[in-house]
Amino acid sequence: MKALTANELRKNYIDFFVSKGHRQISGASLIPENDPTVLFTTAGMHPLVPYILGAEHPAGKMLTDYQKCIRTGDIDAVGDPHHLTCFEMLGNWSLGAYFKKEAINYSYEFLTQVLGLDPNKLSVTVFAGDADVPRDDIAADTWRSLGIPDERIYFLPREDNWWGPAGETGPCGPDSEMFIDTGRPACGPDCRPGCSCGKYFEIWNDVFMGYRKDENGNFVEMERKCIDTGMGIERTVAILQGKKSVYETEVFQPIIHGIEGLTGKKYGENEESDTSIRIIADHIRTSVFILGDQKGMAPSNVGQGYILRRLIRRAIRHGKKLGIENAFLSELAKIVVDLYGKPYPEIAERTAFIYDELEKEEAKFSDTLVKGEKEFQKMLPNLMKGSSREISGRLAFKLYDTYGFPIEITRDLAAENGFTVDEKGFQAAFEKHQEVSRAGAEQQFKGGLADHSDATTALHTATHLLHKALCVVLGGYVKQLGSNITAERLRFDFNHPCPVTKEELKKVEDLVNDAISKDLPVKCETMTLDEAREKGAFAQFDAKYGEDVKVYSIGDFSMEVCGGPHVEHTGTMGHFRIVKEQSSSAGVRRIKAVLEK
Ligand code: ALA
Repeated sequence: MKALTANELRKNYIDFFVSKGHRQISGASLIPENDPTVLFTTAGMHPLVPYILGAEHPAGKMLTDYQKCIRTGDIDAVGDPHHLTCFEMLGNWSLGAYFKKEAINYSYEFLTQVLGLDPNKLSVTVFAGDADVPRDDIAADTWRSLGIPDERIYFLPREDNWWGPAGETGPCGPDSEMFIDTGRPACGPDCRPGCSCGKYFEIWNDVFMGYRKDENGNFVEMERKCIDTGMGIERTVAILQGKKSVYETEVFQPIIHGIEGLTGKKYGENEESDTSIRIIADHIRTSVFILGDQKGMAPSNVGQGYILRRLIRRAIRHGKKLGIENAFLSELAKIVVDLYGKPYPEIAERTAFIYDELEKEEAKFSDTLVKGEKEFQKMLPNLMKGSSREISGRLAFKLYDTYGFPIEITRDLAAENGFTVDEKGFQAAFEKHQEVSRAGAEQQFKGGLADHSDATTALHTATHLLHKALCVVLGGYVKQLGSNITAERLRFDFNHPCPVTKEELKKVEDLVNDAISKDLPVKCETMTLDEAREKGAFAQFDAKYGEDVKVYSIGDFSMEVCGGPHVEHTGTMGHFRIVKEQSSSAGVRRIKAVLEK
């Protein structure tokens, strides 16, 4: 095998598929465009879902790219030598151009010819079939035709050989996974690809996208079959370079050297400090990707911003644990920017924002971290006296509420002192708190509208126009985080990482006034929340609504789930003017606007 670096693998892969008639497309933002069911882009196919479902892609039917991905399900596992929260995925797609045989042939050729893999070390899995979908004999026959013997072709059930959808609904299908046999002895008679003992390393996944999972959980066969494949760069280069862990490759070593320089600790000498080093390295890398995304998010208490906050705060705590006294994150961030600024120019373009936000968050959290840890140490003797070795949900929540400790920090602290955490209790307290603040927000929203005067009704309609206009001007990621309306003005809070420029505000005003001057009709329909989302309606608060919701459309301009009331035609609203744009909290902007007659 060729010991390629990440940069070489990325290039070789794209070049190979371009040479086979694929067009290279740009990877997408980490914030999914049209999928409210997940926070981050989790796979290369994620941004391509509309095209796999039938839309025409402007670049054609055969595509290839590299895509930054975040999977947060594994945050807690980070610290061991294998888990990552952020990774790059290489992929090639056929949107109805070719299917299983060609996809498998390409995979085999790339693995053996470009990567130089010994075909005798390749094992593959294919779908064993079940009541709904038959056994994948075509995939198996194709592997056989390439010389893979039966004993290295494994038929496995749905848990192993079915991929997707990426969110709750969408394209999915049986897959065929490729594994490299490391040559280690099998851990037992049942050891096979997918076993966690380390004998088999998964290197690539070819998904035969033939189905769509609908809102009711049914798998509907798609007329046009597509190919989706995914190869994780970090894992693959670790295998190619014969390294035991992704952290030993050039992808992580510069960051780890940076941490060694700051702490004086050597990686590989002590398991406890190695764990902290890996946590810092992973978390700072992912934080730079989120902050440096084209839709760059700042740390906050909601959604993606909260994941970012958790990553940053946990990295800070492990830095302190290793003895770093001063702010250190932006120094490490520079190393990450050096590593990724080229393949991801959006990162290089946002360095000021990245360093600034890290420094702000670090300044904000460092003091409370010290206070919170002191408080915890004070409580320890009492906790030790009790018979239970569990931190109550109430206490974990107090640490969150008072000191800003994300659950991972409390969990780390607890574990270091021989305790576990009542996570269910924490979750319950956390959700109750969110409900209270959401109820507060809804109350405020309703409260503002308590007088259904013409003035508040018109301002309410203007809020919808403003929301849409902000999405058009700033980006589809803009979400309403709060709204308050009085007879005089509207107030609108939304996520956006930096001040909105004068030019942008002017564009927003113009769009709103344009919609008003067109005298658009305002229409109200009742449908399920899922239908509303499918139609592209905005829905406030990521809460569950009852089954049916009211959806207000303003001409073709805006569509939003909302209780109303609204004007019947926009022409009566008057002239829209933004009077103020300011920061509301980190990553949240606030606009105040009026309607003038
Ligand atoms: N979408 C497939 C995966 O993520 C290729 O494994």
